[in-house]
Amino acid sequence: MNVLLTGGIGYLGSHTALSLLEQGHEVTILDNLSNSNLTVLQCIESISSKQLNFVRGDVLENALVKNTINQFKIDAVIHLAGLKAVGESVLNPLKYYENNVQGAISLLDAMLSCNIRSLVFSSSATVYGAPQYLPINEEHPTNPYNPYGNSKFFIEQILIDIARSNKDWTIVNLRYFNPVGSHASGLIGDNPNGIPSNLMPYINQVAANQRPFLNVFGGDYETLDGTGIRDYIHVEDLSEAHLAALSWIDDPDKNRDINMNTFNIGTGVGYSVLDIIQAYEQINGLKIPYKITARREGDVAACYSDPTKANTVLGWKALRTLEDMCKSAWNFQKLRAIDI
Ligand code: WQD
Repeated sequence: MNVLLTGGIGYLGSHTALSLLEQGHEVTILDNLSNSNLTVLQCIESISSKQLNFVRGDVLENALVKNTINQFKIDAVIHLAGLKAVGESVLNPLKYYENNVQGAISLLDAMLSCNIRSLVFSSSATVYGAPQYLPINEEHPTNPYNPYGNSKFFIEQILIDIARSNKDWTIVNLRYFNPVGSHASGLIGDNPNGIPSNLMPYINQVAANQRPFLNVFGGDYETLDGTGIRDYIHVEDLSEAHLAALSWIDDPDKNRDINMNTFNIGTGVGYSVLDIIQAYEQINGLKIPYKITARREGDVAACYSDPTKANTVLGWKALRTLEDMCKSAWNFQKLRAIDI
């Protein structure tokens, strides 16, 4: 298929572009490079030994999106472009609603104008808010409590209404848990601008002596070791979930009664912060100094998925281990440390 991948130069986007190329899809990336740079494009092409189409721009540029869809004869869209920093969203909610919600509307309008109605949407477990039960399945109530989570929730509601309005749409909504790790080559990975807010890139920078120690946000949660538990999933497993979503969309036996489906994309296993530190130290032969500090505003004690629906309906399952996640993360950081 000719796939338009918005945000395809970002962390998840670059890994998804690779998976698509490896499966023989024609890939066109639309990215405004607000949180990434063009060297990633060269890495994708060198790893895959394949060419892809790149358009620098924003999904908010409706005419550009329409031209891109027509120019590259797009069959389906994987929409990853968006802002994703919870803390920033609290300080600047309008920026998140404009970029994420208005951006999605602009993209959907362009798709409609071009008569393209196949979409995979990048949502987030953040739409569930504080877990009411664990593991979280897709029936869990959605109750986001920050503008980032709200933006993803609002887009999901828009997609539900669009799918209901016209049966020609086929939409897969993927709720990601905690993506970590990097491509085996170490050439692409999670390389956030500024001080990392997420755990793994911060640990990477401690390992590379760019930070003196890790602050462990809270040691008094009602968990086995008192630190927060999350469902970490290797970014390559997450990327492959998008291929499975495209296959569901493209399933010739379409005589199913639904044209939109939502899936949790996680491993179903929860690890604490101290579990991550220990695994990272052991597999990489490193020491990660840390200090237990106060809880971070908005954090929950534990959040992990029930991925059964994705396993059974999409035929997708996370295959990579925590060791794979920690080893690949450091492998990427090591190579970057040499670059710097
Ligand atoms: C993980 C655990 C922290 C940093 C966020 C978004 C979510 C998704 C993934 C986009 C928690 C602890 C962290 C640190 C720490 N993003 N931690 N020290 O908050 O679960 O999810 O990223 O879709 O939407 O909300 O991920 O990596 O920030 O935190 O102790 O320096 O690590 O308290 O327990 P989170 P995270």
